[in-house]
Amino acid sequence: MTQFEGSHILSVNQLDLDAIHTIFNVANRMTPYALREKRTKVLEGAILGNLFFEPSTRTRVSFGCAFNLLGGHVRETTGMASSSLSKGESLYDTARVLSTYSDVIAMRHPEAYSVKEFAEGSRVPVINGGDGANEHPTQALLDLFTIQKELGFAGRGVDGMHIAMVGDLKHGRTVHSLSRLLCMHKNISFTLISPGELAMPDYVLDDIANAGHRVTITDQLEGNLHQADILYLTRIQEERFPSQDEANKYRGKFRLNQSIYTQHCKSNTVIMHPLPRDSRAQANELDNDLNSHPNLAIFRQADNGLLIRMALFALTLGVDTQLEKYECPVNWYSRKADR
Ligand code: CP
Repeated sequence: MTQFEGSHILSVNQLDLDAIHTIFNVANRMTPYALREKRTKVLEGAILGNLFFEPSTRTRVSFGCAFNLLGGHVRETTGMASSSLSKGESLYDTARVLSTYSDVIAMRHPEAYSVKEFAEGSRVPVINGGDGANEHPTQALLDLFTIQKELGFAGRGVDGMHIAMVGDLKHGRTVHSLSRLLCMHKNISFTLISPGELAMPDYVLDDIANAGHRVTITDQLEGNLHQADILYLTRIQEERFPSQDEANKYRGKFRLNQSIYTQHCKSNTVIMHPLPRDSRAQANELDNDLNSHPNLAIFRQADNGLLIRMALFALTLGVDTQLEKYECPVNWYSRKADR
């Protein structure tokens, strides 16, 4: 039995390097199932409650697919209006009820710490799919998993690496969670590039400083990218602003395209973005002209999300050692891996 069985996954703060290592090992073992080379029915009969009270494409669908790929069923609730939360029901009552209907619950909610509050009423494991501007632990895990793989291809490791984080670092929950995971490593250099008003929160900066890592804080993109091994771009999180006009003040301030990349980055800098990227003309923080660049890892990140979420389900439901026992063949055409 691992530390994960029956446990909630609410914050990266509950993890240490051993726990991360365990998750990544199980995630790697999920590859043949995610690629449809093999099937496993290890969660046949189990039900995932997939509760998304805020828009999502990747996280919602990959949680659902991850559960399906392990043989389980998915019951989905999307949007506040279609839930009795809109009638004033508490998160606690909602959790008490839905945890009878499900074996595990994945949840996204616009309020910070709401998933934790929900988990207090749940009788089954709850996995945080993003709570307001606070945390996105499964995204941070898939980001770190991607960083390890991308740097690993070039014979490099996470310890000693340099990451430049760009954009809305105040509201971007992915950078909050990822920074904390990186803090567990050795000798990381952070370059944090954002408008002053959208700077990384002090509590994350304190974690970075307390762990003894180097930080440069700036509001200039060009000229601050040349040392980055990883360039992690983020969107202006318009849904966290009081109005679109407020968000518009910051859209398009930092843009990466082929020309800027070639001029200012190392030739092996890996480009990451949690997605969605805002491709509207006024924002366009990551230009389509980099779509075919081999160092663009954004879709590999999304692919890795499936592996990480499969691993978390297998671990929280205690079936990580039984995957092979419940294997069965794939009878249909399946695409080949990109890489
Ligand atoms: N990265 C991420 O959380 O994407 P979605 O909002 O589409 O789930």
